[in-house]
Amino acid sequence: MFTSKISGLGHYVPENVVTNDDLSKVMDTNDTWIQERTGIKERRHIKKGDGNSTSVMAVKASTIALERANLSPEDIDMIVFATLSPDMYFPGGGVQVQELMGMRTIPALDVRNQCSGFVYAMSVADQFVKTGMYKNILVIGAENHSGGLDFTTRGRSVSVIFGDGAGAAVVSRNEGEGGILSTHLHSEGEHKDQLSLQGPSTEYWVPEIIEKNPQEDIPYYPYMNGQFVFKHAVVRFAEVINEGLKANNLEASDIDMLIPHQANLRISQFIQKKMRLRDDQVFNNIQKYGNTTAASIPIALSEAWEEGKIKKGDLVVLAAFGSGFTWGSVIMRW
Ligand code: ACO
Repeated sequence: MFTSKISGLGHYVPENVVTNDDLSKVMDTNDTWIQERTGIKERRHIKKGDGNSTSVMAVKASTIALERANLSPEDIDMIVFATLSPDMYFPGGGVQVQELMGMRTIPALDVRNQCSGFVYAMSVADQFVKTGMYKNILVIGAENHSGGLDFTTRGRSVSVIFGDGAGAAVVSRNEGEGGILSTHLHSEGEHKDQLSLQGPSTEYWVPEIIEKNPQEDIPYYPYMNGQFVFKHAVVRFAEVINEGLKANNLEASDIDMLIPHQANLRISQFIQKKMRLRDDQVFNNIQKYGNTTAASIPIALSEAWEEGKIKKGDLVVLAAFGSGFTWGSVIMRW
């Protein structure tokens, strides 16, 4: 049995900055409400004509991750791509990355686990490397949310939260100490409707879209029961981090860097307090990018690493919770 580690990280966000004040020009909202409830000051949105899409941003982030891993596209044995906003309904984004990066006919797997997508994708990559089947796996989280949100006052409780971007990690066979120590995944489908986008789908299919006036209350925009999600998130985040720590005989005080999914700054602060972690043990950047769903952890991890906040030997914990509900954690020794 082998172990795996992250050998390279990269991220990309569109240049177009959208502030809370910008949003208040198109809907009834304001900077104070958004900052008080979520901590978000601004986010990035793809601008029409800037050439970006979910897969294009994924390629930009992946190119950086590969460079930092000293690998070229032909060294990659598999792509695992987490997104809820692929360029096409099918096929998924993985094959687009394979094509755009000129990779061999390697497997491209798409993960549909929303905010937990990157943690699930990391766990999948870890299993393939552990068994010895593959040596280098490109793991991506990327989202184009701005293309599918309701930017009228009707959609404000959801649309102010989300932003666009991509992050990538190369998961490689570990030749030294440490690496990924364990991953822990969960789901609870009972709450699937509480944070969901129900159409277009086989339940709400094309004829209905054409037939129904988009102004009607039809489920073609994301729905989120905010307070319900908040209450479950704070419980599950702490639970799955502790599960990972316990599995490795570690304590919260051993954590050098916790990268929580950037759902909402208030959720991260709640977990930090609950787990008695210092400010320097938790990384947040939701203030700048909003919630980028599957992209939020790899963007934050890449940024924390760039800022020198993750060093060799550090205990790094990734944790996510989101739509499904699904949640999970990754425990790593850097
Ligand atoms: N601007 C101004 N007012 C708003 C906005 C807005 N953007 N959105 C909602 N409001 C209004 C509501 O209409 C409501 O008005 P009313 O009292 O007159 O009816 C009032 O603000 C309060 O609305 P609530 O939904 O009760 O606000 P709450 O305090 O619950 O905050 C929020 C909403 C931020 C979504 C909160 O519930 C939350 O943080 N939930 C966690 C969910 C989360 O973070 N999801 C992220 C994605 S999920 C994930 O990644 C895990």
